[in-house]
Amino acid sequence: MRRSISAMIAAAAPLVLLYAGLARAATWGANYFPNVPLTTQEGKTVRFYDDLLKGKRVVIDFIYTKCGDSCPLETARLAQVHRLLGDRMGRDIFFYSISIDPVRDTPAELKAYAESYRAGPGWLFLTGKKADIEAIRKKLGQAARAGENELTDHSTSFTIGNEATGQWMRDSSTDDPHYLAAIIGDWMGDWKNRVPGQSYAEKPELPASAADRGANLFRTRCAACHSIGEGDGVGPDLAGVTRVRKREWLAGMIALPNEMLAKGDPIATALFAQYRQVRMPNLRLGDVDVNALLGYLEARDAAGASGGKDGK
Ligand code: HEC
Repeated sequence: MRRSISAMIAAAAPLVLLYAGLARAATWGANYFPNVPLTTQEGKTVRFYDDLLKGKRVVIDFIYTKCGDSCPLETARLAQVHRLLGDRMGRDIFFYSISIDPVRDTPAELKAYAESYRAGPGWLFLTGKKADIEAIRKKLGQAARAGENELTDHSTSFTIGNEATGQWMRDSSTDDPHYLAAIIGDWMGDWKNRVPGQSYAEKPELPASAADRGANLFRTRCAACHSIGEGDGVGPDLAGVTRVRKREWLAGMIALPNEMLAKGDPIATALFAQYRQVRMPNLRLGDVDVNALLGYLEARDAAGASGGKDGK
Protein backbone atom coordinates (compact mmCIF):
# COMPACT_ATOMS: atom_id res chain seq x y z
CA MET A 1 0.00 0.00 0.00
CA ARG A 2 2.68 2.42 1.05
CA ARG A 3 4.60 1.68 -2.09
CA SER A 4 1.68 2.14 -4.41
CA ILE A 5 0.82 5.46 -2.84
CA SER A 6 4.33 6.76 -3.17
CA ALA A 7 4.40 5.58 -6.77
CA MET A 8 1.22 7.49 -7.33
CA ILE A 9 2.63 10.56 -5.69
CA ALA A 10 5.70 10.32 -7.86
CA ALA A 11 3.50 9.98 -10.93
CA ALA A 12 1.43 13.05 -10.23
CA ALA A 13 3.02 15.85 -12.17
CA PRO A 14 1.09 18.86 -10.80
CA LEU A 15 1.80 17.91 -7.25
CA VAL A 16 4.21 20.05 -5.32
CA LEU A 17 5.26 18.45 -2.11
CA LEU A 18 6.41 20.94 0.39
CA TYR A 19 9.31 18.85 1.57
CA ALA A 20 10.98 21.96 2.85
CA GLY A 21 7.83 22.40 4.88
CA LEU A 22 8.03 18.81 6.05
CA ALA A 23 11.56 19.25 7.21
CA ARG A 24 10.54 22.33 9.09
CA ALA A 25 7.41 20.62 10.30
CA ALA A 26 8.03 21.47 13.89
CA THR A 27 7.87 25.15 13.07
CA TRP A 28 4.53 24.92 11.23
CA GLY A 29 2.54 24.97 14.43
CA ALA A 30 1.18 27.42 16.96
CA ASN A 31 4.21 29.66 16.59
CA TYR A 32 4.08 29.68 12.82
CA PHE A 33 0.45 30.37 11.95
CA PRO A 34 -1.20 33.65 12.86
CA ASN A 35 -4.00 33.04 15.32
CA VAL A 36 -6.12 35.82 13.83
CA PRO A 37 -9.91 35.98 14.11
CA LEU A 38 -11.99 35.08 11.04
CA THR A 39 -15.75 35.05 10.53
CA THR A 40 -17.57 32.02 9.10
CA GLN A 41 -20.45 32.10 6.62
CA GLU A 42 -22.73 31.67 9.65
CA GLY A 43 -21.31 34.82 11.26
CA LYS A 44 -19.37 32.97 13.94
CA THR A 45 -15.93 34.22 14.97
CA VAL A 46 -13.14 31.63 14.99
CA ARG A 47 -9.40 31.78 15.55
CA PHE A 48 -7.27 30.61 12.65
CA TYR A 49 -4.88 28.43 14.62
CA ASP A 50 -6.80 27.48 17.77
CA ASP A 51 -10.13 26.71 16.17
CA LEU A 52 -9.32 25.83 12.58
CA LEU A 53 -5.92 24.17 12.46
CA LYS A 54 -4.89 22.72 15.79
CA GLY A 55 -4.80 18.90 15.63
CA LYS A 56 -6.79 18.77 12.37
CA ARG A 57 -6.43 17.68 8.77
CA VAL A 58 -7.32 20.57 6.58
CA VAL A 59 -7.61 21.75 3.02
CA ILE A 60 -7.28 25.49 2.56
CA ASP A 61 -7.93 27.51 -0.56
CA PHE A 62 -8.36 31.15 -1.39
CA ILE A 63 -11.38 32.30 -3.33
CA TYR A 64 -13.68 35.27 -3.86
CA THR A 65 -17.30 35.02 -4.77
CA LYS A 66 -17.14 37.38 -7.76
CA CYS A 67 -14.35 35.34 -9.33
CA GLY A 68 -15.10 34.26 -12.87
CA ASP A 69 -12.28 31.90 -13.76
CA SER A 70 -10.36 29.70 -11.41
CA CYS A 71 -12.32 29.80 -8.17
CA PRO A 72 -15.55 28.22 -9.43
CA LEU A 73 -13.56 25.22 -10.60
CA GLU A 74 -11.65 25.05 -7.31
CA THR A 75 -14.87 25.20 -5.31
CA ALA A 76 -16.63 22.62 -7.50
CA ARG A 77 -13.61 20.34 -7.24
CA LEU A 78 -13.63 20.60 -3.45
CA ALA A 79 -17.36 19.80 -3.45
CA GLN A 80 -16.57 16.57 -5.33
CA VAL A 81 -13.78 15.69 -2.91
CA HIS A 82 -16.11 16.49 -0.02
CA ARG A 83 -18.62 13.92 -1.29
CA LEU A 84 -15.88 11.30 -1.61
CA LEU A 85 -14.66 11.89 1.94
CA GLY A 86 -18.20 11.40 3.24
CA ASP A 87 -18.69 11.38 6.98
CA ARG A 88 -15.07 12.10 7.73
CA MET A 89 -15.83 15.68 6.75
CA GLY A 90 -16.34 17.75 9.86
CA ARG A 91 -15.02 14.88 12.00
CA ASP A 92 -11.31 14.78 11.28
CA ILE A 93 -11.13 16.59 7.94
CA PHE A 94 -12.02 20.23 7.40
CA PHE A 95 -12.10 22.50 4.35
CA TYR A 96 -11.53 26.23 4.60
CA SER A 97 -12.21 28.53 1.68
CA ILE A 98 -10.88 31.92 2.67
CA SER A 99 -12.00 35.05 0.84
CA ILE A 100 -9.29 37.26 -0.60
CA ASP A 101 -11.91 39.94 -1.24
CA PRO A 102 -13.08 40.20 2.37
CA VAL A 103 -14.65 43.64 2.13
CA ARG A 104 -17.18 42.55 -0.51
CA ASP A 105 -17.44 38.97 0.71
CA THR A 106 -19.62 39.37 3.78
CA PRO A 107 -20.70 36.24 5.68
CA ALA A 108 -24.07 36.47 3.87
CA GLU A 109 -22.38 36.53 0.45
CA LEU A 110 -20.26 33.57 1.44
CA LYS A 111 -23.27 31.69 2.72
CA ALA A 112 -25.08 32.10 -0.60
CA TYR A 113 -21.92 31.02 -2.43
CA ALA A 114 -21.57 27.92 -0.21
CA GLU A 115 -25.19 27.02 -0.85
CA SER A 116 -24.87 27.29 -4.61
CA TYR A 117 -22.12 24.64 -4.45
CA ARG A 118 -24.09 22.61 -1.90
CA ALA A 119 -21.16 22.74 0.49
CA GLY A 120 -21.63 20.16 3.23
CA PRO A 121 -20.49 19.81 6.86
CA GLY A 122 -16.96 20.63 7.88
CA TRP A 123 -16.50 23.22 5.14
CA LEU A 124 -16.19 26.82 6.25
CA PHE A 125 -16.18 29.91 4.05
CA LEU A 126 -14.27 32.58 5.87
CA THR A 127 -13.87 36.30 5.77
CA GLY A 128 -12.05 38.70 8.04
CA LYS A 129 -9.75 41.70 8.12
CA LYS A 130 -7.80 42.09 4.92
CA ALA A 131 -4.47 42.36 6.74
CA ASP A 132 -5.15 39.19 8.71
CA ILE A 133 -6.04 37.23 5.58
CA GLU A 134 -2.92 38.54 3.87
CA ALA A 135 -0.88 37.28 6.82
CA ILE A 136 -2.38 33.80 6.43
CA ARG A 137 -1.79 33.83 2.68
CA LYS A 138 1.80 34.75 3.22
CA LYS A 139 2.44 32.01 5.76
CA LEU A 140 0.95 29.44 3.40
CA GLY A 141 3.13 30.70 0.56
CA GLN A 142 0.05 31.85 -1.37
CA ALA A 143 0.54 35.60 -1.31
CA ALA A 144 0.46 37.54 -4.56
CA ARG A 145 3.94 38.37 -5.81
CA ALA A 146 5.05 41.86 -6.71
CA GLY A 147 3.34 43.09 -9.85
CA GLU A 148 0.58 40.49 -9.68
CA ASN A 149 -3.05 41.39 -9.33
CA GLU A 150 -3.84 40.22 -5.82
CA LEU A 151 -7.26 38.93 -6.86
CA THR A 152 -7.02 37.63 -10.40
CA ASP A 153 -3.51 36.22 -10.16
CA HIS A 154 -4.14 34.29 -7.00
CA SER A 155 -2.87 30.75 -6.80
CA THR A 156 -5.38 28.07 -7.70
CA SER A 157 -3.83 25.34 -5.65
CA PHE A 158 -5.06 23.80 -2.46
CA THR A 159 -2.92 23.71 0.64
CA ILE A 160 -3.40 20.35 2.26
CA GLY A 161 -2.14 19.83 5.78
CA ASN A 162 -2.15 17.66 8.82
CA GLU A 163 -1.37 20.00 11.66
CA ALA A 164 -0.85 17.17 14.14
CA THR A 165 1.84 15.41 12.08
CA GLY A 166 3.23 18.58 10.52
CA GLN A 167 2.74 17.38 6.93
CA TRP A 168 1.91 20.11 4.46
CA MET A 169 1.68 19.99 0.70
CA ARG A 170 0.12 21.81 -2.18
CA ASP A 171 -1.93 20.31 -4.94
CA SER A 172 -3.53 21.50 -8.11
CA SER A 173 -7.26 22.10 -8.22
CA THR A 174 -7.40 20.47 -11.66
CA ASP A 175 -6.35 17.13 -10.21
CA ASP A 176 -8.63 14.14 -10.17
CA PRO A 177 -11.02 14.28 -7.20
CA HIS A 178 -10.45 10.61 -6.32
CA TYR A 179 -6.76 11.28 -6.21
CA LEU A 180 -7.25 14.37 -4.03
CA ALA A 181 -9.54 12.44 -1.68
CA ALA A 182 -6.94 9.67 -1.40
CA ILE A 183 -4.22 12.17 -0.62
CA ILE A 184 -6.26 13.99 1.98
CA GLY A 185 -7.85 10.92 3.51
CA ASP A 186 -5.08 8.35 3.37
CA TRP A 187 -1.74 9.80 2.71
CA MET A 188 -1.76 12.62 5.20
CA GLY A 189 -0.83 10.80 8.36
CA ASP A 190 -2.53 7.74 9.68
CA TRP A 191 -2.96 4.66 7.55
CA LYS A 192 -5.46 2.88 9.75
CA ASN A 193 -8.18 5.40 9.19
CA ARG A 194 -8.50 4.94 5.43
CA VAL A 195 -11.61 6.01 3.60
CA PRO A 196 -13.34 2.71 2.90
CA GLY A 197 -13.89 1.98 -0.76
CA GLN A 198 -12.21 5.13 -1.95
CA SER A 199 -8.87 3.71 -2.89
CA TYR A 200 -7.05 5.45 -5.65
CA ALA A 201 -7.03 2.17 -7.57
CA GLU A 202 -10.79 2.49 -8.02
CA LYS A 203 -10.68 5.84 -9.70
CA PRO A 204 -11.94 5.91 -13.26
CA GLU A 205 -9.40 4.94 -15.89
CA LEU A 206 -7.56 7.75 -17.54
CA PRO A 207 -8.36 8.07 -21.23
CA ALA A 208 -6.23 5.53 -23.05
CA SER A 209 -4.55 7.67 -25.66
CA ALA A 210 -2.98 11.06 -25.37
CA ALA A 211 -4.86 11.87 -28.56
CA ASP A 212 -7.99 11.85 -26.49
CA ARG A 213 -7.36 15.36 -25.47
CA GLY A 214 -11.03 16.29 -25.30
CA ALA A 215 -11.87 13.51 -22.85
CA ASN A 216 -8.92 14.42 -20.72
CA LEU A 217 -9.81 18.08 -20.68
CA PHE A 218 -13.40 17.27 -19.85
CA ARG A 219 -12.35 15.14 -16.91
CA THR A 220 -9.94 17.67 -15.47
CA ARG A 221 -11.69 20.96 -16.26
CA CYS A 222 -15.39 20.32 -16.65
CA ALA A 223 -16.48 17.17 -14.81
CA ALA A 224 -16.41 18.91 -11.43
CA CYS A 225 -19.53 20.77 -12.54
CA HIS A 226 -20.99 18.84 -15.50
CA SER A 227 -21.95 15.26 -16.20
CA ILE A 228 -22.88 13.79 -19.54
CA GLY A 229 -26.10 11.89 -19.03
CA GLU A 230 -25.90 11.55 -15.26
CA GLY A 231 -27.97 14.55 -14.30
CA ASP A 232 -27.25 18.13 -13.32
CA GLY A 233 -24.32 18.99 -11.11
CA VAL A 234 -23.32 22.53 -10.28
CA GLY A 235 -23.91 23.13 -13.99
CA PRO A 236 -26.28 21.52 -16.49
CA ASP A 237 -26.06 17.92 -17.68
CA LEU A 238 -24.41 18.25 -21.09
CA ALA A 239 -25.91 15.15 -22.72
CA GLY A 240 -27.49 16.16 -26.02
CA VAL A 241 -26.13 19.71 -25.82
CA THR A 242 -24.48 19.49 -29.26
CA ARG A 243 -27.88 18.65 -30.74
CA VAL A 244 -29.78 21.56 -29.24
CA ARG A 245 -27.20 24.33 -29.54
CA LYS A 246 -25.23 25.66 -32.45
CA ARG A 247 -21.53 24.80 -32.57
CA GLU A 248 -20.56 28.45 -32.66
CA TRP A 249 -22.61 29.22 -29.58
CA LEU A 250 -21.07 26.28 -27.74
CA ALA A 251 -17.57 27.37 -28.70
CA GLY A 252 -18.33 30.84 -27.34
CA MET A 253 -19.82 29.47 -24.14
CA ILE A 254 -16.84 27.21 -23.50
CA ALA A 255 -14.18 29.78 -24.35
CA LEU A 256 -15.71 33.01 -23.06
CA PRO A 257 -18.70 32.33 -20.82
CA ASN A 258 -18.15 35.60 -18.94
CA GLU A 259 -18.46 37.58 -22.18
CA MET A 260 -21.57 35.68 -23.22
CA LEU A 261 -23.17 36.76 -19.98
CA ALA A 262 -21.82 40.28 -20.14
CA LYS A 263 -23.24 40.87 -23.61
CA GLY A 264 -26.63 39.58 -22.49
CA ASP A 265 -26.78 36.42 -24.59
CA PRO A 266 -30.32 35.19 -23.84
CA ILE A 267 -29.48 31.49 -23.41
CA ALA A 268 -26.45 32.18 -21.20
CA THR A 269 -28.52 34.62 -19.14
CA ALA A 270 -31.35 32.12 -18.64
CA LEU A 271 -28.93 29.36 -17.69
CA PHE A 272 -27.16 31.63 -15.23
CA ALA A 273 -30.46 32.29 -13.46
CA GLN A 274 -31.44 28.62 -13.57
CA TYR A 275 -28.16 27.37 -12.13
CA ARG A 276 -28.21 29.43 -8.92
CA GLN A 277 -26.10 32.16 -10.42
CA VAL A 278 -22.98 30.05 -10.37
CA ARG A 279 -20.70 31.47 -13.01
CA MET A 280 -19.58 29.08 -15.68
CA PRO A 281 -15.86 29.90 -15.38
CA ASN A 282 -13.64 31.21 -18.12
CA LEU A 283 -10.94 28.54 -18.01
CA ARG A 284 -8.76 30.36 -20.54
CA LEU A 285 -8.88 27.58 -23.06
CA GLY A 286 -7.38 28.13 -26.49
CA ASP A 287 -9.04 27.21 -29.79
CA VAL A 288 -7.37 23.81 -29.93
CA ASP A 289 -8.73 22.86 -26.54
CA VAL A 290 -12.19 24.24 -27.25
CA ASN A 291 -12.34 22.22 -30.45
CA ALA A 292 -11.11 19.11 -28.67
CA LEU A 293 -13.87 19.54 -26.10
CA LEU A 294 -16.52 20.10 -28.76
CA GLY A 295 -15.32 17.00 -30.58
CA TYR A 296 -15.60 15.04 -27.36
CA LEU A 297 -19.13 16.31 -26.62
CA GLU A 298 -20.21 15.56 -30.20
CA ALA A 299 -18.77 12.06 -30.04
CA ARG A 300 -20.59 11.40 -26.78
CA ASP A 301 -23.85 12.65 -28.28
CA ALA A 302 -23.33 10.58 -31.43
CA ALA A 303 -22.69 7.55 -29.22
CA GLY A 304 -26.14 8.21 -27.81
CA ALA A 305 -25.70 9.49 -24.29
CA SER A 306 -29.33 9.98 -23.34
CA GLY A 307 -31.09 12.23 -20.85
CA GLY A 308 -30.12 15.86 -20.29
CA LYS A 309 -31.21 18.21 -23.01
CA ASP A 310 -33.27 15.67 -24.90
CA GLY A 311 -35.52 15.21 -21.92
CA LYS A 312 -36.18 18.93 -21.53
C1 HEC B 1 -17.50 25.69 -11.68
C2 HEC B 1 -18.45 24.96 -12.45
C3 HEC B 1 -18.27 24.82 -13.93
C4 HEC B 1 -17.16 24.36 -14.64
C5 HEC B 1 -15.81 23.96 -14.07
C6 HEC B 1 -17.57 24.32 -16.01
N1 HEC B 1 -18.86 24.75 -16.14
FE1 HEC B 1 -19.94 24.77 -17.85
N2 HEC B 1 -21.49 25.66 -16.86
C7 HEC B 1 -21.53 25.87 -15.51
C8 HEC B 1 -22.77 26.54 -15.18
C9 HEC B 1 -23.20 26.97 -13.77
C10 HEC B 1 -23.47 26.71 -16.38
C11 HEC B 1 -24.82 27.40 -16.59
C12 HEC B 1 -24.56 28.80 -17.10
C13 HEC B 1 -24.06 29.76 -16.04
O1 HEC B 1 -24.56 29.73 -14.91
O2 HEC B 1 -23.14 30.54 -16.35
C14 HEC B 1 -22.64 26.11 -17.43
C15 HEC B 1 -22.99 26.05 -18.76
C16 HEC B 1 -22.30 25.34 -19.72
C17 HEC B 1 -22.74 25.09 -21.07
C18 HEC B 1 -24.08 25.47 -21.66
C19 HEC B 1 -25.06 24.34 -21.39
C20 HEC B 1 -26.35 24.45 -22.13
O3 HEC B 1 -27.32 23.87 -21.64
O4 HEC B 1 -26.40 25.09 -23.16
C21 HEC B 1 -21.77 24.37 -21.71
C22 HEC B 1 -21.77 23.85 -23.11
C23 HEC B 1 -20.71 24.18 -20.74
N3 HEC B 1 -21.06 24.77 -19.55
C24 HEC B 1 -19.53 23.51 -21.01
C25 HEC B 1 -18.47 23.41 -20.13
C26 HEC B 1 -17.20 22.83 -20.46
C27 HEC B 1 -16.86 22.18 -21.80
C28 HEC B 1 -16.43 22.94 -19.36
C29 HEC B 1 -14.98 22.54 -19.20
C30 HEC B 1 -14.05 23.14 -20.08
C31 HEC B 1 -17.20 23.60 -18.32
N4 HEC B 1 -18.43 23.88 -18.83
C32 HEC B 1 -16.74 23.88 -17.03
C33 HEC B 1 -20.58 25.54 -14.58
C34 HEC B 1 -19.32 25.07 -14.89
